[in-house]
Amino acid sequence: MPWYTEKPFVDRLAGLDLRTADLPASETREDTDQFAGYLIWADTEPMLPERRYCVRFASGKASVQVTDLVHVLDDASGDKLAGKILENNQIGYCKFALAGAVTFNSFANDPEAGSFVVTNEEDQIIGRGVIDFALRRASNITWHATKIDKSLRAKANAQKPRVLWFTGFSGSGKSSVADRLEQKLHALGKRTYLLDGDNIRHGLNKDLGFTDQDRVENIRRVAEVANLMMDAGLIVVTSFISPFRSERQMARSMMAEGEFVEVFVDTPLEVCEQRDPKGLYKKARAGELKNFTGIDSDYEPPENAEIVLKAGDLDPDTLADQIIAYLDAHS
Ligand code: ADX
Repeated sequence: MPWYTEKPFVDRLAGLDLRTADLPASETREDTDQFAGYLIWADTEPMLPERRYCVRFASGKASVQVTDLVHVLDDASGDKLAGKILENNQIGYCKFALAGAVTFNSFANDPEAGSFVVTNEEDQIIGRGVIDFALRRASNITWHATKIDKSLRAKANAQKPRVLWFTGFSGSGKSSVADRLEQKLHALGKRTYLLDGDNIRHGLNKDLGFTDQDRVENIRRVAEVANLMMDAGLIVVTSFISPFRSERQMARSMMAEGEFVEVFVDTPLEVCEQRDPKGLYKKARAGELKNFTGIDSDYEPPENAEIVLKAGDLDPDTLADQIIAYLDAHS
């Protein structure tokens, strides 16, 4: 029995405002990779826009991101409220982007082709949704392949472009090691660029704070920029806390095998807190700074980082040499 015919869902769906005008006839299922619709969230972890989830339709599977949470429905009144995340049991009207085109239709016309479930990595259902209508933006944009490509740029730079993705607590030593590493690469004649959290948050990402959803967006933008810079033929070093596995995995999945090198700057929280170079841990402990990583915001350590640096014990120069050795061994 499909989920949308189960009693509690029938009642919840009945109250939704779905477009029926101008819809294609029910037989015209179409291939689209963006659509608008309702999402009923069903997980204790809230839905964060821009995070990647899996989605299952009658016609197939894809990875999906909510690109816009247009509004959240108030349960009691049905009012449309502004919202940044979707909590367990809430319904939101969203715009979705899929990684690949899927055949579907609007729910009002064709419930089978117009409904989907969202799943997590363990294939458990964490959300259910219905499609209002397809967005055709993407179908009007095509990828333009250029004659000068990454491999030619890499050749001109005489190097293998890569992204060295640092992750670790604030105060773990990411920026110091990244800085030292870039100096060493530069001395070796390599073309590099360092993207640093504090610096990017002064410009490109100055509109973002430290809530979970802002960190997801911070890392999404950084991953896109790093990927472009790598496409330009550079060795890119990124230095961001990047606390969530899901977004580090997203960055990794944008790049080819061997291009994404995860560098876990593994300094125990106690050591970072003792160092406290910017006095931020002290403020966080005093309750003057909310959502501070390691205090009242999560850090999910990498499970399979290519490089793990014991930055509580060793100095930045030695650690930078360890990375150079890895790069030499995997060139
Ligand atoms: S991330 O979590 O989104 O990857 P990012 O690396 O860009 O974070 O920024 C972290 C830097 O911002 C820290 O080094 C610290 O100087 C500063 N900062 C300010 N507020 C916070 C906070 N609540 N949590 C973590 N870092 C913070």
